[in-house]
Amino acid sequence: MEETTTPPVLSEEETNYQNILESIDTENGYLIADKKVYIHLNHNSFSSLQTEGEFINFYEAGILILRINEKKIGVYDHCCPHRGTIGSWTYHNKEFRCGTHGNYFNINGDRVVQCNSNSSSGGLRSFQSNLYKDLLTVNLS
Ligand code: FES
Repeated sequence: MEETTTPPVLSEEETNYQNILESIDTENGYLIADKKVYIHLNHNSFSSLQTEGEFINFYEAGILILRINEKKIGVYDHCCPHRGTIGSWTYHNKEFRCGTHGNYFNINGDRVVQCNSNSSSGGLRSFQSNLYKDLLTVNLS
């Protein structure tokens, strides 16, 4: 009698993970589709996100990606709520600072202010994200 082996049943999350990794361009390490951004964190371009407190200003999707701790990554609008600058960010002590005029913005969801709304304080808009293994999925809508 012939023995048969049943392939392991993968969870929906695992199947999804494997499918997305196959679709991600290995040169870039990310995929943007249907208002979602998929980032392969093991790709060289995103290696700095292994370190707590490090962030990437990801221009392709208009977001700041911050490694908050081992299990958590935060994603925020990279457009400054003051006058809309996108490329002058630094991060320190749970706040982003825009270097254009030196204003600070929190990341804790307190008094969120919108892009280019002439606000000199408040919180950055955040985006929902999910971290599974080395894949970060960001919902831009
Ligand atoms: S544009 Fe960012 S602080 Fe003024």
